[in-house]
Amino acid sequence: MDKNMKLEEIASYIVSNGKGILAADESTPTIGKRFATINTESTEDSRRDYREMLFRADGMKNNIGGVILFDETLRQAAKDGTPLREVISEQGALPGIKVDKGISPLDSSPEENITGGLDGLNERCAEYFELGAKFTKWRAVIKISDGLPSQEAIKANMDALADYAKIVQENNMVPIVEPEVLMDGNHSLESCEDATKRCLSTLFESLAKKNVLVEGTILKPNMVVSGNESLEQAGIQQVAEMTLNCLLENVPSNLPGITFLSGGQSDINATAHLDAMNKIGGNPWKLSFSYGRALQQAALKTWSGKQDNEQAAQEAFSHRAKMNMLAAKGEWSENLEG
Ligand code: 13P
Repeated sequence: MDKNMKLEEIASYIVSNGKGILAADESTPTIGKRFATINTESTEDSRRDYREMLFRADGMKNNIGGVILFDETLRQAAKDGTPLREVISEQGALPGIKVDKGISPLDSSPEENITGGLDGLNERCAEYFELGAKFTKWRAVIKISDGLPSQEAIKANMDALADYAKIVQENNMVPIVEPEVLMDGNHSLESCEDATKRCLSTLFESLAKKNVLVEGTILKPNMVVSGNESLEQAGIQQVAEMTLNCLLENVPSNLPGITFLSGGQSDINATAHLDAMNKIGGNPWKLSFSYGRALQQAALKTWSGKQDNEQAAQEAFSHRAKMNMLAAKGEWSENLEG
């Protein structure tokens, strides 16, 4: 892939023709938790084997435009010695890298969190660019509960996202800005809508203040959904309409792509919501996916740490990748799930 791709070209390539992003950037502790669910030990080799299996799956082609990696994976080689980032490029996807350093409590509101990682970010980005990364990710985490999120937490996190995005663009990579309003809790759909609107409006003000190039940025938001412990769960069409309204009110039309996180939604819901939004249509940006769990869950279970299951696991992953590509074009239907 051309080393000198412009930011706008990278961003629009990732979301071209229904393509989306595979989020495979689980930190070492997080992938350890995922492997524990399939009774598999997390070692450098087992993490490599699992991810190599995903990256070599047929369903990467034409469905996945970018893969977000954790630091370890960007530096890792496949069993035959090929760097994993090359395996990804050969499948027609661009390698990207998570650059935030995780969350810690906010001084002014200790129940809430702030994402860190700005120290030394410029130097880390310069190295990641040399290693072939074309884009990066930073995740802000916003919690809903009584009286929360506070405006301080929103402002501090959105300002950090803007500082991050600026540094990344100065290093010739596309920043994915991820303000995730968590679905954990028994809050209503309206509370999620309110928190999401406040985050997005603050985020785009902060990005403008820092002169971040919108055309060279990708937004990775949550959808507007009911809290996962709420007794009243919104339907597919309602989620699609409220999410789109929220985005249309707050996201500039020159942003090339919006790639949703799955955030704990079931595989089918994550696909159905995306499809419903694209069936409504008429949006200024591409609406696609950047799913971690909703792309990997089925494959992880099928694999269960056993080499004999690799082909079946690749098929499970390829199926979800294809279903989400169709959803990003508004061409999915439940009977394709088989
Ligand atoms: P999920 O789709 O599992 O929420 O993961 C996406 C991601 O990258 C979170 O930062």
